[in-house]
Amino acid sequence: MRQLIIDGGHELTGEIKISGAKNSVVALIPAAILSDEEVTLYNVPDISDTRALLDIIALLNGKVEYQDEIMKIDTSKIENKLVPEELSKKLRASYYFMGALLGKFHYAEIYFPGGCNIGSRPIDFHINGFQKLGAEVTIEGNKYIFKADKLKGARIYLDFASVGATINIMLAAVKAEGTTFISNAAKEPEIVNIATLLNNMGAKITGAGTSEIKIEGVKKLGKAVIDVIPDRIEAGTYTIIGALLGKNLKISGIIEDHIDALLSKLKEMGVEMKIDNNSLIINRPKKYKSINVKTLVFPGFATDLGQPMSVLLTQADGMSIFEETIYENRMGHIKYLQKMGANIRVNDRTAIIVGKTPLKGEEVTATDLRAGAAMVIAGLIANGTTTVNEIEHILRGYENIVEKLTNVGAKIKIKEV
Ligand code: EPU
Repeated sequence: MRQLIIDGGHELTGEIKISGAKNSVVALIPAAILSDEEVTLYNVPDISDTRALLDIIALLNGKVEYQDEIMKIDTSKIENKLVPEELSKKLRASYYFMGALLGKFHYAEIYFPGGCNIGSRPIDFHINGFQKLGAEVTIEGNKYIFKADKLKGARIYLDFASVGATINIMLAAVKAEGTTFISNAAKEPEIVNIATLLNNMGAKITGAGTSEIKIEGVKKLGKAVIDVIPDRIEAGTYTIIGALLGKNLKISGIIEDHIDALLSKLKEMGVEMKIDNNSLIINRPKKYKSINVKTLVFPGFATDLGQPMSVLLTQADGMSIFEETIYENRMGHIKYLQKMGANIRVNDRTAIIVGKTPLKGEEVTATDLRAGAAMVIAGLIANGTTTVNEIEHILRGYENIVEKLTNVGAKIKIKEV
């Protein structure tokens, strides 16, 4: 077991470079298997989710070279095999092999996916989409079986603009006969990144990034390259850290439009930033105004930044309200913030946070990935030492978090216990 040990209260200065996006790369790797030739990804973050997907690709007989953030995936000899349950359960994104294998082989057997325990997270929209494309779907024990004689383009409406369902349906539809329309599609930047890779492979997808996506089926997909977009959640996490502890802290390699909602909330709190050419410089202000934050689908305030943001709200003067609207269970970190001294009352998916309260170092747990990020932020601003347990959650999504923070002056280390 590993823990993070954080000695709080140190000012942060220097530069943090943002890595490629976890939630893009976890779909780009499965998307690559739809190609019959080599696919090259640049700016690939080395996080445990990436490694788990590479294990799946190797198991399916794909060949991978991965060095210095460049990944070459040769899928010319891909075989359709059942991925063991422990591997599928390691992460949520193993479910992208449903769409990818179904699209390529018209048959897929996949165990239920894993991922953060932040709500019930059904995948009914994915399943409905596959069925509309002509697949027969059955459940056998802990696994789904998808079968289709052929896949045919269809009109698919999503009851909710789900990121995973939008991507999975694109993967299954890209080689279907005829044209597929996804209405009320998710508009997150990751969707555009995946559609761009598929188009570079020869697909005909238009409308990605809007709520209406059109996919004209093609027969063959080939060689392609793509840059993984910068991780907007990592960028947002470090920007929040900068708002709390930054002294001319530079966050580089960002796309401003992708974190617009966060930047506008920080400005509302009185945080000043200089934004210039894909980077920002941030300083901690003398005090923060309290605000309300409600998570929404893109371009609204990202659900994945809600937990990190709630730590900042403990330092604002007065009452702030943090409301989570995407998942049922994104308040796992609150009891640990309370243990550290925060004044927070939770009512279902809403947290009422009254500040400003100093936080003190304590032993806490990362109950999920972004709860873990929240614990790191809390530890960085607390008086004394914070010990974070179950850091595997954090390492699934933040590349070199210890090195990145140490380089700018934080006192943080991993301890093997
Ligand atoms: N939903 C359904 N049925 C479905 C699909 C989704 O009811 O078939 C519900 C979910 O239960 C949830 C909501 O719709 O309440 C949104 O789910 P969505 O499908 O958009 O999320 P996801 O694809 O499972 C991805 C990211 C999440 C991120 C969300 C929202 C990956 C691997 N995961 O999840 O990332 O929170 O989109 O932006 O891309 C994280 O990185 O910490 C994380 C949880």
